[in-house]
Amino acid sequence: MSFERKNTPSIHFPKFKESLPSQEGKTFAITGTTSGTGYVAAKTIRELGGNVILLNRNSERSTKSFQELETISSQGSIHAVECDLQSFASVRKAVGEIQKIAKDGLDVLCNNAGVMALADMATVDGFDVQMQVNHLSHFLLTAELFPLLEKAANSKGDARIVNHSSIARMNPSKKLEAKYMEKRGGNLGGNGASMVFGGARWKRYNQTKLANAGFTAALHEKLQKAGSKVKALVAHPGVANTELQVTSVKEGGMGAFFTNIFMGFAGQSMEDGAMGILACMCLPEAKSGTFYGPGSGVMATKGKAEPFALESFYDNEATRNLIWEKSCEAIGREFSI
Ligand SMILES: NC(=O)c1ccc[n+]([C@@H]2O[C@H](COP(=O)([O-])OP(=O)(O)OC[C@H]3O[C@@H](n4cnc5c(N)ncnc54)[C@H](OP(=O)(O)O)[C@@H]3O)[C@@H](O)[C@H]2O)c1
Repeated sequence: MSFERKNTPSIHFPKFKESLPSQEGKTFAITGTTSGTGYVAAKTIRELGGNVILLNRNSERSTKSFQELETISSQGSIHAVECDLQSFASVRKAVGEIQKIAKDGLDVLCNNAGVMALADMATVDGFDVQMQVNHLSHFLLTAELFPLLEKAANSKGDARIVNHSSIARMNPSKKLEAKYMEKRGGNLGGNGASMVFGGARWKRYNQTKLANAGFTAALHEKLQKAGSKVKALVAHPGVANTELQVTSVKEGGMGAFFTNIFMGFAGQSMEDGAMGILACMCLPEAKSGTFYGPGSGVMATKGKAEPFALESFYDNEATRNLIWEKSCEAIGREFSI
């Protein structure tokens, strides 16, 4: 049996989009815009007149999505920059390109891209493929682009770092563990795929999504202490019908039979799923240290993106320190705010 992405109608997105202000004059860098929530975010920012920088690895999908996004009539500019989050060298090269494009400052960095329940594999840098794509490369991107975010914040009074987490931050574990952020790729529990019984593929995904939320908490605290005008926010999309599940099924992370049933009743449209990151990116009232999503519980799979507070299972001193220390160690540089 195969699995194909379900075309679920959007319930909340049209009205939500109408509530978003013009983004003319602002520059947004977004990772993972070939499909899903990143594609919707890039399309929406184009429609609102903002400048977008698409950060993707090279593929037919990235060429096709760039061509589609380019045709949207907009006051803003569009650039495609190659950025493979499986490689720190590729991220560093992308930073050089972004610095040329966004000389006057970067208003929003949206760390959206992600992979789910992949096999126990190491990247070229030696880290778990899920942890490097979902968190460590985004940490590096944020550290390298921080001066540009500060530049925008100092001249305009606002700039934002937006991370994309998941309900999976809570399950199977609420505790972030150091080993998942170390050079142990390919040696982190094997390929157990049971979502219910905490299969190792899902434990690794869980750790990355905890890291996304914990990174936001640590960033928020440091930004507040430094009196910075840069904001740190995090979102989750509930469960959204994107390519994420398609890739996961193909790579052995989920069974097609179960995924067909689950996505049929639990999945909302990718537009509804993108409301959380878009709220973080665009809403004038969105405050640093806020989570946006369709609720904070494990059953929050669909609905409007509402703000809620960061949660104590990652927003605590030990986890904030752990994530900063292990992430700096992984990228081989300090990140001081
Ligand atoms: N959909 C859900 O139900 C759900 C639930 C909770 C959280 N999320 C989170 O939402 C975010 C977006 O996912 P999605 O649901 O929109 O899935 P998606 O449709 O699969 O999009 C994921 C994006 O990430 C990109 N990506 C993957 N590996 C990459 C790499 N090495 N370098 C650069 N880009 C890479 C993909 O690009 P390629 O074309 O190159 O693969 C794609 O553009 C993820 O962080 C995910 O964890 C989604």
